[in-house]
Amino acid sequence: MSEILKIDVVTIFPQMLNGFLQESMMKRAAAAGLVEFRAINLRDFTTDKHNTTDDRPFGGGPGMVMKPEPMFAAVESVKTPESRVILMTPQGKTFRQADARRFADECSHLIFICGHYEGVDERIRESLVDEEISIGDYVLTNGVLAATVVIDAVTRLRPGVLGGGEVATEDESFSSGLLEYPQYTRPPEFRGMPVPEILFSGDHGKIAEWRYGQSLKRTSERRADLLGGHRKNSENNP
Ligand code: ADE
Repeated sequence: MSEILKIDVVTIFPQMLNGFLQESMMKRAAAAGLVEFRAINLRDFTTDKHNTTDDRPFGGGPGMVMKPEPMFAAVESVKTPESRVILMTPQGKTFRQADARRFADECSHLIFICGHYEGVDERIRESLVDEEISIGDYVLTNGVLAATVVIDAVTRLRPGVLGGGEVATEDESFSSGLLEYPQYTRPPEFRGMPVPEILFSGDHGKIAEWRYGQSLKRTSERRADLLGGHRKNSENNP
């Protein structure tokens, strides 16, 4: 795994990224040199005086299509043999924790292509993009929002990014293939609602067993679709 993860985001709204990058985990990760973010303004790669990034579809029909020339130029300005080029689109494969883990573990350079309303010229898909990712079955006006979701989920899994009590654990939802078990903190009783007795027992084996049972119950009640893919390991499954 490389020391630093470089992330480039190609967009016509580079300033949309800034708010997100200048807060909390992202800001700390960048300041610590663990990740390096760059917003790449697609308009800087246009050659006409109107800085055109999209055009009408050949064959007619509604909407606009993002042009290939500025997109190829923008991506090629930062692409290396190590880069993974990801197109954010509702037509992509649905993003999951396993994808976040794969990007965090295997990639040293991610380039996100973000559309705005319209689709992209098919030649971008065919020969510029390695992977198409959707964050869910709904349509956003802007792929930047979707890219920030993926960037957040990936960055927090990079070594050293979470600290001071926050850790990406095997127990958190989706990492083990199950939803997380219920968590409690002080006080031991709140408004007549007590914390389950087992959690005060000091018996770590029994606590792990209880938590695993709760995770299974919660997953089967809320997300039975996850149960097939849930991986057994000794840490989670006593
Ligand atoms: N762009 C627009 N909608 C999107 C979605 N659901 N996922 C990824 N990118 C998108």
